[in-house]
Amino acid sequence: MEFSETVRQRQSIKSYKADKTISDAELKELMQEVVLSPSSFNLQHWTFIAVQDTGIREKIKAAAWGQEQVGTCSVLLVICGKLNAHQDAPEIYQDVDQEIQDQVFPLIDGFYEDKKQFQRDEAIRSSSLAAMTLMLAAQNRGWATVPMIGFDPEAVAKLVNLKPNYIPVMLMAMGFKNEDSRPRGYRRPIEEVVRINTLDGPGLTG
Ligand SMILES: Cc1cc2nc3c(=O)[nH]c(=O)nc-3n(C[C@H](O)[C@H](O)[C@H](O)COP(=O)(O)O)c2cc1C
Repeated sequence: MEFSETVRQRQSIKSYKADKTISDAELKELMQEVVLSPSSFNLQHWTFIAVQDTGIREKIKAAAWGQEQVGTCSVLLVICGKLNAHQDAPEIYQDVDQEIQDQVFPLIDGFYEDKKQFQRDEAIRSSSLAAMTLMLAAQNRGWATVPMIGFDPEAVAKLVNLKPNYIPVMLMAMGFKNEDSRPRGYRRPIEEVVRINTLDGPGLTG
């Protein structure tokens, strides 16, 4: 599919064909594209939990205020962010020259160590970028998605056994849509959302 077309066709889909499946092999192929997403210092804060157990899925649905798509999509993912991902730097940079490691590790430590709010921002930022890649990679395969923050994070964290160094960033439903495309929701005009030089500068007119 032509890339602009993929971007234009993606919509958040809430009604799914419950009898359709996506195999682990198909999911793996998709995820191989998703993990190519960017992250600061390449720390890859994300982990994706594919919830295949129907019992756990039903409980997540209840914790997501009963949202139908949680129960009917082909794949339900809990996209998680790692708060202390900066501590993984030695593993991530293991094949890099020692000289570069010596430069980068203190830099990474200075950025993240003891900065709880920033660690959380970064976990959400990186995981969200990966979530966007996922939605477009899914759309490219003709699969529908909807990202969700409408859930009780503590309940979901408990249901999928998250340790305290992980947060559930969003849920993602993925599958085969059971509805016609809706008119696109209102988008603010480009002149308003793209400003030149400063927030109060002129809008981009092109
Ligand atoms: C972070 C985030 C959280 C969202 N949470 C929910 C949700 O809990 N339930 C839902 O039905 N849609 C959810 N959405 C989908 C938005 O409603 C949707 O993206 C928006 O209305 C724009 O529509 P579009 O995605 O079809 O372009 C969420 C989207 C984002 C980006």
